[in-house]
Amino acid sequence: NVFSGISSLADFESKICNCKKCDLAKGRNKFVFGSGNPEARVLLIGEGPGADEDKQGLPFVGRAGQLLTDILKAIKFSREEVYIANIVKCRPPGNRTPTAAEIDACFPFLQKQIELIKPSLILLLGATAVLGLLQKKESLSALRGKVYEYGEAKVMVTYHPAALLRNPALKRGCWEDVQAFRKIY
Ligand code: URA
Repeated sequence: NVFSGISSLADFESKICNCKKCDLAKGRNKFVFGSGNPEARVLLIGEGPGADEDKQGLPFVGRAGQLLTDILKAIKFSREEVYIANIVKCRPPGNRTPTAAEIDACFPFLQKQIELIKPSLILLLGATAVLGLLQKKESLSALRGKVYEYGEAKVMVTYHPAALLRNPALKRGCWEDVQAFRKIY
């Protein structure tokens, strides 16, 4: 592993924050490494930074992020006690879905984050997170409601908060998913 000498998230962030491994580097304002408790038992993984995240350098700080904060509160988690990261660390232009090449280029960063945080539970937000971590291409509706594994961690999936904003009918399913997630925790 190329990052084998790195033993803290802060150290890791400083080593990779000027990454130019893919073209997303050209359009970014800020590299969005991730935020939260470095020793969290719970890791949440989204897709990639949007405009607000790219401006602030922090994950899930826009409208979808506010909804995510509310969802976490509803299952009695604070943002400070969990860790939040994305599949890609730089904003795709116009918020398009990251390409397979971008996901592949960025994936070693997430792998190392998981190695450092050692979460026991991971919640994947949306299809890109599921594809990125588990390589599963089925629809979210087909994948939710089950427990997967990634290394030592149990993994569950739910809709991306931005999908809930576009389609409020999905909120009920998300509520079921996060309650099941809390129960397993
Ligand atoms: N959507 C994501 O997937 N990640 C963020 O950080 C913000 C919005």
